[in-house]
Amino acid sequence: MELINNAPLKAFTTFGVEATCDHLYRVEDYDELKLAVQYLERPLILGGGSNILPIGDIHRNILRMEMKGIYILEDGDQPIIGVAAGEVWHDFVMWALQHDLGGVENLSLIPGTMGAAPMQNIGAYGVELESVFHSLQAVEIGTGNVRVFFKEECRFGYRDSIFKKEVKDRYVITGVNVRLTRDHQLNTTYGAIQDVLNVKGISHPTIHDVSEAVIAIRQSKLPDPKMIGNAGSFFKNPVITADQYTLIKSAHPELPGYPAEEGFVKVPAGWLIEQAGWKGKRKGNAGCYEKQALVLVNHGGARGEEIWSLALDIISSVKEKFHIELSPEVNLWNGEL
Ligand code: EPU
Repeated sequence: MELINNAPLKAFTTFGVEATCDHLYRVEDYDELKLAVQYLERPLILGGGSNILPIGDIHRNILRMEMKGIYILEDGDQPIIGVAAGEVWHDFVMWALQHDLGGVENLSLIPGTMGAAPMQNIGAYGVELESVFHSLQAVEIGTGNVRVFFKEECRFGYRDSIFKKEVKDRYVITGVNVRLTRDHQLNTTYGAIQDVLNVKGISHPTIHDVSEAVIAIRQSKLPDPKMIGNAGSFFKNPVITADQYTLIKSAHPELPGYPAEEGFVKVPAGWLIEQAGWKGKRKGNAGCYEKQALVLVNHGGARGEEIWSLALDIISSVKEKFHIELSPEVNLWNGEL
């Protein structure tokens, strides 16, 4: 297990903000991890660093999950694939496509690692991890005991799971098992997927066509972290009551809304932020992305405090204008923690 002292978090997170961490351990092996969680106090777990904003320097031990491996655990019409936590999510999607296995094509190009995917039940274009999830293995922090979590136990919701709530900071996810398909059920109804397929003249799409369409859409509106630091959507799309939605819509008839659980409506935060006048705006080195207002960016040299200060301004102006409180989708790693 390699230890990096005074590690530059800029290199380990896609926001690329200036911050250091006292001790960062690169974990490539399961046994190393079991030992580390017994001896290191309150470790923070890092995957691809694509959903984290460090605010200030971090004076804690970070375990960076780098275990690799993709295995067919059970074959058949709906094979179960076991994927180690350190595998890059998109590499796994490409592996699935190469094996003509479906179910994750709509989740192409989502940044991050497999181990982080269940934490927030990653989702895009009408599909969430939950729809292919079978189970996961985790190691308990403090004891090193191994536990399997099946789907129902994970309590998946919109960008949510038990790992963000009841068992937060108690387990390290080491591997995820997903159930894929050989007889594919395509989901092309969401967003612009069907439009892209129509433009290409594809009337009988394959999982490969859907993946390519999703990649094209994502690349057209989301900034590449290699070019400009960001962590994808900075805020969650707020879910409000149907009554509240009707009330706000009477003052703002254009307000979009998507179905959520009974009696609730999901409102696109990108729309609220754009209407509040933030799209493309800049505050110091932090900015609200010009093509997708839900994404905050680091124009270069920003510290986490600067990005967070912009986020707080956006939260308060959306609250003032629409009486809706936005909450961050990214995990805030506060140096004070
Ligand atoms: N919109 C605007 N202005 C903007 C951005 C969005 O008006 O600047 C409105 C439009 O009405 C648009 C709607 O918001 O139709 C939805 O926009 P989009 O399809 O881009 O999706 P989103 O709701 O902003 C969510 C996820 C994304 C995911 C896309 C596609 C969250 C927090 N974000 O964004 O996930 O890729 O849907 O499924 O749920 C991520 O989690 O990091 C992420 C990028």
